[in-house]
Amino acid sequence: MIIKKIIGIDLGTDTTQVYLKGTGIILNEPSIVAFNNRTNRVVAVGSDAKKMLSRTPSHVTALRPMVNGVIGDFDMAKEMVQRFLKSNTIPWSWFTETVISVPTNLTEVERKSVEDLLREVGVSKVHLIERLVAAALGSGLDINQPTAHLVVDIGAGTTDMAIISMNGIVVSKRLKIAGDYLNHEIVKGVKEELKLHIGEPTAEEIKIAVGEAIPQSERLDLMIRGRDAVSGLPREAVIRDTQVRYWLTKPLKQVIETLKELIDVTPPELVGDVYKNGIYLSGGGSMLRGIEQLFEKEIGVKVHLVDEPLLCVVRGTGLITENMEQYKNILDTFSNSKVVL
Ligand SMILES: Nc1ncnc2c1ncn2[C@@H]1O[C@H](COP(=O)(O)OP(=O)(O)OP(=O)(O)O)[C@@H](O)[C@H]1O
Ligand SMILES: [Mg+2]
Repeated sequence: MIIKKIIGIDLGTDTTQVYLKGTGIILNEPSIVAFNNRTNRVVAVGSDAKKMLSRTPSHVTALRPMVNGVIGDFDMAKEMVQRFLKSNTIPWSWFTETVISVPTNLTEVERKSVEDLLREVGVSKVHLIERLVAAALGSGLDINQPTAHLVVDIGAGTTDMAIISMNGIVVSKRLKIAGDYLNHEIVKGVKEELKLHIGEPTAEEIKIAVGEAIPQSERLDLMIRGRDAVSGLPREAVIRDTQVRYWLTKPLKQVIETLKELIDVTPPELVGDVYKNGIYLSGGGSMLRGIEQLFEKEIGVKVHLVDEPLLCVVRGTGLITENMEQYKNILDTFSNSKVVL
């Protein structure tokens, strides 16, 4: 008997998640590959590879094959997906069908490379779904109606934003300012202001522990360690929330400017809907403290942070796997939506 498996995948810059039809989310791993550059063999993927990031001996390299939401290194991405899909947690079958989310406004070549990757891994059928449509479905929005929703997904590599109405994207924008970029700004700020060199993982720790987009009632600080820019020796320093807020001001402003531009090119009737329905924020980057308040203040529209922002895209792909018939008209249909880059 042929056992057909249907899985939903969110292949993100930071994390890869897999949903198995009938079961739920069965994999949630960092999108990282570690390989031995003497033998060119992959030594670890996912959380095992993450432990090696920035701490590898010279013959081992740990890298992220996804860059700004698209495949940056095809071979490494393929190895990673292959290992994830054939791990013990997933009952592998040669008749596996997938629904995979992809960023909005991908080129034909970028889209094809996602399809090729899954086919080469051995998946029999590949359906692509725009990640914002998946995020909207995964957040429980009824996007089938003739009313518009504005969804913003702040991931690690990109921020995607779109007006969605009647199951399709009307206008959209994508920018490369997201979680990773905020980490770079923190590395830069700590170096310039405190004369201390820190790595990406420490910057991420700072962002999550004391990062904020707008002043919060609770004052926070964090002790970190790095290398003194002058003496070259290890040193400790305290980072305060106000400093991080200052370092993040510029990139967050750029996101807001892009959001305003998107609203500016949205048909007026749909702008009215957005005013009524509010803005929906998804993706890990939307978990930055105070980001909803900042957007509300700048745009003047109610902002909702979706439940479990890190999981809503994969949940959306999962919802499609559970109801393929119902959603078949929204799969692989890349509307001739107005693309404003
Ligand atoms: N509490 C938090 N505050 C701020 N940022 C956070 C928080 N938790 C996670 N993040 C950020 O969320 C990002 C990961 O989000 P997500 O998993 O949605 O990205 P992704 O889907 O892998 O990336 P992309 O969609 O861009 O390809 C990381 O940059 C991480 O630093
Ligand atoms: Mg994502």
